[in-house]
Amino acid sequence: MLAVRVCEVRHAALDVLSFVLAPVDGGPLPACTAGAHIDVALPNGMLRQYSLCQTGPALRLYEIAVLHDRDGRGGSACAHRDIRPGDTLMISPPRNLFPLLPTGRPVLFAGGIGITPILAMAEALHAAGRDFELHYCSRSPERAAYRDTLARSAYAPQLRLYHDSAPEAGRLDAEAVLRRAGADAHLYVCGPAGFISHVCSAARQAGWDEGRVHFEHFAAPAAVAPPGGNGSFELLLARRGLRVPVAAEQTAAEALLAAGVDISLSCEQGVCGACVLPVLDGLPDHRDVFLSPAEREANRCFTPCCSRALSPSLTIDL
Ligand code: FES
Repeated sequence: MLAVRVCEVRHAALDVLSFVLAPVDGGPLPACTAGAHIDVALPNGMLRQYSLCQTGPALRLYEIAVLHDRDGRGGSACAHRDIRPGDTLMISPPRNLFPLLPTGRPVLFAGGIGITPILAMAEALHAAGRDFELHYCSRSPERAAYRDTLARSAYAPQLRLYHDSAPEAGRLDAEAVLRRAGADAHLYVCGPAGFISHVCSAARQAGWDEGRVHFEHFAAPAAVAPPGGNGSFELLLARRGLRVPVAAEQTAAEALLAAGVDISLSCEQGVCGACVLPVLDGLPDHRDVFLSPAEREANRCFTPCCSRALSPSLTIDL
């Protein structure tokens, strides 16, 4: 982890604050590419992932933006309430699970706070002289973070803004946009789960293959327990010869940690992939948004922070 100082806290939109972070030791920050995020250790002990709004090879500052999610689990409320200029925070080096491909014409879609990695992508594409278009949807202009930055940018003509509160200005017809895009186009979408699913299904309707569709969730949709509630199951750790029971009210990750088995954890909501474990036998009940449809179908790995088992046990390569 890296210690950074909070240089500035800005109002970026209604319910959105942006935080500008500089390394405590004054040196350059680790290089990162558009779409990257960092883990931030919040003052309440939670670890949360935030996309970097600007990226590049030798940044002196990182900027993240946090939407106050009143229905969330407390991470964003803590960030808004407890992080002040001058505070020191611990962050991870950037990781990029949502990279831009070097070829193809990007069609960028952002919903709400999903603009953060998309803004970094637009900046990077413009700097590289690549053609792209950006469609940005928000509930109202006051809720559209970085609206002024985008409107003032040199690539403003490639930007379309849509606000639920101003439907007369035009509604997003994602399928029409994607039908118009050329055969070399690639879709990049970030935003709430419903927005991502809407745009991805529009891509399918428009005949796009999955290989040209790229998305990043910033929060997992709320997990829905099956009608009878969660069941218990058992983890069999093949290399250790250990059986770890997972009770109905605990996650597989909690059971492993309680049994003294060290595993990596970050988002703890099935978003980041930090906890993925290889499965040798058994049927996982995938509840994450990290694994691809093909990976879920193959059942060769699972995310113990949120996923469970459909079979009485799962044999793990641990
Ligand atoms: S800790 Fe992020 S997916 Fe499990």
